[in-house]
Amino acid sequence: MSKITAAITAVGSYVPDFVMTNKILETLVDTNDEWITTRTGIKERRILKGEGLGTSYLAIKAAEQLLEKQKLDPKEIELIIVATATPDMMVAATAAYVASEIGATNAFAYDLQAACSSFLYGMSTAASYIESGRYKKVLLIGADKMSSIIDYTDRTTCIIFGDGAGAALFEPNNEGLGLQDEYLRSDGVGRNFLKMDAGGSLLPASEETVKNRQHFIYQDGKSVFKFAVTNMADSAAKIMERNNLSHEDVDWLVPHQANKRIIDATSNRMGLEDSKVMMNIQRYGNTTSATLPLLLSDYERQLKKGDNLVFAAFGGGFTWGSIYLKWAYNS
Ligand SMILES: CC(C)(COP(=O)(O)OP(=O)(O)OC[C@H]1O[C@@H](n2cnc3c(N)ncnc32)[C@H](O)[C@@H]1OP(=O)(O)O)[C@@H](O)C(=O)NCCC(=O)NCCS
Repeated sequence: MSKITAAITAVGSYVPDFVMTNKILETLVDTNDEWITTRTGIKERRILKGEGLGTSYLAIKAAEQLLEKQKLDPKEIELIIVATATPDMMVAATAAYVASEIGATNAFAYDLQAACSSFLYGMSTAASYIESGRYKKVLLIGADKMSSIIDYTDRTTCIIFGDGAGAALFEPNNEGLGLQDEYLRSDGVGRNFLKMDAGGSLLPASEETVKNRQHFIYQDGKSVFKFAVTNMADSAAKIMERNNLSHEDVDWLVPHQANKRIIDATSNRMGLEDSKVMMNIQRYGNTTSATLPLLLSDYERQLKKGDNLVFAAFGGGFTWGSIYLKWAYNS
C-alpha cells in the first residue's frame, strides 16, 4: 500500500477593503514612502475597519471563498485550525466560532499560535492528521488582525504590519503529492526581541499596562532582522540539501512576507531567480499568519501540478522553519 501524503487541494483568501498607504502613514508618524519602500519593500497594507470585527471576520471570509470555489459542503470538514497571533479573545477558541459560522458543524476546531510561523507550523499539524489516516478534510486558516495590536504612534512597527487571511484545504493524496519534508525550529532566546508584553498570564491587563502601551507589539527590529535573515535562509537551504533539490528543481519559494530584504537574502542563498519567488509584501505588508496562504491564493493560477514549493517562515518566539511541498493541482 502506498503511503498517504497530505496535499493542499484548494485555497481561498480575504483582505479588507481599506488600503493604508505609506502616504497615510506619513500623516501619522515621522516617516516617508521612500524610507519604508527601501527598508521593507512595503507600499501599502490592508486594515480591517468597523466596530466588533475581529480576526474571525477575516478567517470566515477566506474560508467562505475557498468553500465557494471548491463547491465544498462545509459539513464534510472534520477539523479547522485557525493559525493566529491575534485571536478574537484570549480564551474562547476563534476557530470554534469560525467553524460554526461557516456551517462546519461536524468539525472540531482550535487555534494555533506561533507568531509569524503559525501557518507554517499549522501546515505540519494539518498534514500529520491527514498522513496518519485519521481525518480526510482539514481546513487550515491563517488570519490576523494585526492592526488590533499595533501602536500607530510607533514608526518602527506600524509601517510593517497589515490585516488579512488565507485558507488551505488539506486532503489525502495517493500520487505522492503534497507535503514532502519539514524542518521546524524554535528558540526562546527570541522572546524579548519581538513580543506583546501585557495581556497574558505573565503580565495581566491593568491600568498600568494600558498606560505604558504594553498591549501593543514591540520589536527590536535590528535583532529580529539578523535572526530572520540567517534562519529563514538556513532552513530553506537545509530542506533543499536534505531532499537533493538544486535551484533548478525548486519551482517556487513561498516566503513569509516580513521584509523584502529578508526574502531576497533567502532566495539568493537558494540560488533562485526572482521569477520563482512569490511576493506580495508591497500590497499587504506583513500579515503574520496570513502571508503564506495569501501568496498561494495570489499565485494559484500560475501553479502547476507537481511543482516543487519551498515554504520558509520566521516569527516571534523565535519560531522558524521550512517545508517542502509538491503542488497537487492545476487551477
Ligand atoms: C524594522 C526594520 C525595517 C528597520 O530597518 P533598519 O534598517 O533595521 O532600521 P534601523 O532600525 O536601524 O533604523 C535606522 C534609522 O531609521 C529610523 N527609523 C526607524 N523607523 C523609521 C520609519 N518608519 N521611518 C523613518 N525612519 C525610521 C531609526 O530611528 C534610525 O534612525 P537613526 O539612525 O537616526 O537612529 C528592520 O529592522 C526589519 O525589517 N526588521 C525585521 C522586522 C521583521 O521582519 N519583523 C517581523 C518578523 S516576523
